[in-house]
Amino acid sequence: MTDRDLVDFGAVRGKTCMVTGASDGIGFAAASALASAGAEVVLVVRDEGRGRAAADRIRAAHAGAHIALELCDVSSQAQIRALGTRYEASGRPLHVLVNNAGCWNTTRKQSVDGIELTWATNMLGYFVLTRVVEPVLRRCAPGRVVSVGSGLAEGLDLDDINFVRRPWGRIRPGVAAYAQTSQARRMWTYALARRLGDAGVTANVMNPNNTRTGAFKKGGGVLGWLVHYGNLFVSESAEHGADTAVWLAANGGIDGVTGKYWEKRKEQHCPFRDTVREDELWAVCERMTAPSEGRVQVAV
Ligand SMILES: NC(=O)c1ccc[n+]([C@@H]2O[C@H](COP(=O)([O-])OP(=O)(O)OC[C@H]3O[C@@H](n4cnc5c(N)ncnc54)[C@H](OP(=O)(O)O)[C@@H]3O)[C@@H](O)[C@H]2O)c1
Repeated sequence: MTDRDLVDFGAVRGKTCMVTGASDGIGFAAASALASAGAEVVLVVRDEGRGRAAADRIRAAHAGAHIALELCDVSSQAQIRALGTRYEASGRPLHVLVNNAGCWNTTRKQSVDGIELTWATNMLGYFVLTRVVEPVLRRCAPGRVVSVGSGLAEGLDLDDINFVRRPWGRIRPGVAAYAQTSQARRMWTYALARRLGDAGVTANVMNPNNTRTGAFKKGGGVLGWLVHYGNLFVSESAEHGADTAVWLAANGGIDGVTGKYWEKRKEQHCPFRDTVREDELWAVCERMTAPSEGRVQVAV
């Protein structure tokens, strides 16, 4: 990050930012950059040890950084709701939410809620967390929701969200399941921006591009290793990958800009803009996350 960035990023000085998946990769880099810009940063992590290590690394790199830790597996709706309740009860402010925690899985897995894990994490994790902290964001407005998306985006099938009818893929296992969540994250962001309307809270989604992180190795299987080692030569650092998310979270020059898709700090054309389909997606997410017996199993 340059001196110019730190000036541009003054919008978060003294503000509170929550970053999911902050123990590693792009989320860690974003949390670190926001802390260096003077924000108080809440790291949302699923593993306490990795979370503490991340917090220590940020404190060591940025003297005086204000870092808090929240434990939450964002593929579990109950854990996200518990986080929301804790956060509301703490009375802490929230000005920026960076939705970032995500996964790709070469074998099909299910979340504790019985939902295909990629969708449960990458889409419903964003949907539920944003919902539970939205009242705090509105109270503390102006605020921003920044969501990390992906360029690998296609194939959203609202009738087979859980990948029951479609093959998981032999040559590229789990890639189609991942790509549908990337399409959905964008469409959901556009719907969220409309719903937040004039609340003073913006919603934008960005593509980090090909970034050198552990995501591919964690995906498992031969393909995971191949992409991981291939990426070492062609991809960018986590800091580069996080840059546009940090810029969207912290740059004072984009106050009020909402409902857009970004790459390298530039707005990009997105082929998935369709308010009717966006609202259908929203309704599906609502049904899949309705508490207890109200939940409808969508095409499982
Ligand atoms: N790397 C790329 O080239 C690339 C390209 C396009 C988009 N993206 C997107 O960028 C985001 C970050 O990916 P990354 O490349 O930085 O991967 P990463 O290094 O594997 O980091 C993912 C982070 O999310 C956390 N996470 C995963 N599942 C979680 C869960 N259920 N609950 C809580 N935390 C969870 C991980 O925690 P642990 O430390 O516990 O594993 C880790 O902190 C993802 O949304 C991904 O879709 C990445």
